[in-house]
Amino acid sequence: TAPPATLVIFGAGGDLTRRLLVPSLVHMMAAGMIDDQFSVLGVSRSEMSDAEFRQSLEDFDVGEVEDGYAKAWQKLRGKVQYMAGDVTDAGFYSQLRERMDKDGAGNAVFYLAISPSLFEPIIDGLGEAGLFEVKGAFRRLAVEKPFGHDARSAKALNARILRWVDEEDIYRIDHFLGKETVQNIMVARFANAMIEAVWNRQYIDNVQITVAERLDVGTRGEFFDATGTLRDMVPNHLFQILAMTAMEPPNRFDAASVREAKSQLLDAIRIPNAKDVKRDTVRGAYTAGHVGGNKVGAYENADGVASDSRTETYAALKLEIDNWRWAGVPFYLRTGKALSHKDSEVVLTFKPVPYADFRDAKVSTMPANRLVLQLQPKEGISLDFLAKKPGADIKPTPVEMQFSYADYFELGGSTGYETLIYDILTGDQTLFQRADAVEAAWRIVDPISKAWKSGKPEPYRAGSAGPKAADELLERDARQWHALG
Ligand code: BG6
Repeated sequence: TAPPATLVIFGAGGDLTRRLLVPSLVHMMAAGMIDDQFSVLGVSRSEMSDAEFRQSLEDFDVGEVEDGYAKAWQKLRGKVQYMAGDVTDAGFYSQLRERMDKDGAGNAVFYLAISPSLFEPIIDGLGEAGLFEVKGAFRRLAVEKPFGHDARSAKALNARILRWVDEEDIYRIDHFLGKETVQNIMVARFANAMIEAVWNRQYIDNVQITVAERLDVGTRGEFFDATGTLRDMVPNHLFQILAMTAMEPPNRFDAASVREAKSQLLDAIRIPNAKDVKRDTVRGAYTAGHVGGNKVGAYENADGVASDSRTETYAALKLEIDNWRWAGVPFYLRTGKALSHKDSEVVLTFKPVPYADFRDAKVSTMPANRLVLQLQPKEGISLDFLAKKPGADIKPTPVEMQFSYADYFELGGSTGYETLIYDILTGDQTLFQRADAVEAAWRIVDPISKAWKSGKPEPYRAGSAGPKAADELLERDARQWHALG
């Protein structure tokens, strides 16, 4: 069980709080990861009583509560309070301080699940009111993405936070690191001799990282149009998967070593110049189509999106990692919305055998071995290899060996945030981003977003696998994307 603490959520009226944070707390209560020494203080602009706030959480989440978590919610419910306030007003923070002092709040986590434009005023407000410093208790800060919008703003935000909070009390959240299958990349690699032994340039021809979504921008048009898929997904989620996949074995599996290994990896990614961006990146925006039988309108017609928008809803890039393990092995990344399948995966394609002279198969005609880490959905790992097809000839034929999480483990009853919140409460930073890593990620992406300020994304039909140019990016290297789904 985590130590007693108050979780102060800024943005308590928002989607994230209702859809992910509170359900996670319910799961944690049910699992005994928190107990009745834990409390929540929701902060948001609208006037609401505690009872109304609790009700708003219930209204949204009835399904989950009925699902066997009713008792846990009842236990948590009484520990949930609410405070209305204008977070841009300094007066609010003295009230918050008074309230927390009166309640005898010791340990606390301030969780920013709110528009990034409010990060700095909130951090300064908390700092100036002395809320980050309480004798004999921890005061931690959890920050949701986006952490800045480029390297400069990320650096400025880090500096701002560090004025008030030590690095060891800052938890920069990337919710992909809460996913079991993303954490499993480390176990797959570092608990299995046969896997890690071939995990390098000698055996691997190329690595593909895909985060494909069927979701379109929906009601997030305004946020999305100002952000775009590149900045929404790549320096955070895709790079976290990339870092887990490509980092060197950490000396220890603790926060300092793992974060160091990831930082070193990001530092080895070649920063693209203008010519690289032109050659090695592709952006797309979806046009009208059907996703899983549902009609989806063109991106530019979505609510909140400018009709002459040049924002991308799809990004694909080829990156090089300049270190001993990976020199010369291309890493292809792609992510997009309104695609044919929801599919997040890491695919390692092996180099061919050096020589083969079967009557009906030569090296050049045999499909490559492939290891697929299926992150979501249908979580699992599969290995494509060749076997002899029965018969008089020796005919190497592609077959697939498969491990499915569902056959061994329960993955249900979890949002991915349980581990993250528990780790914040217990002070384990392994699954959170260090300041320098966030800045390094932006440094790689910045030249791309800069170049993409001119020109336009390539259209792709909603419900397709993405723009044609993304296929061409690999065809040029005589390679292909692993099929979605
Ligand atoms: C968020 C992005 O960080 O991640 C969204 O802002 C995206 O645009 C989401 O849809 C994907 O997360 P998940 O957990 O649904 O795969």
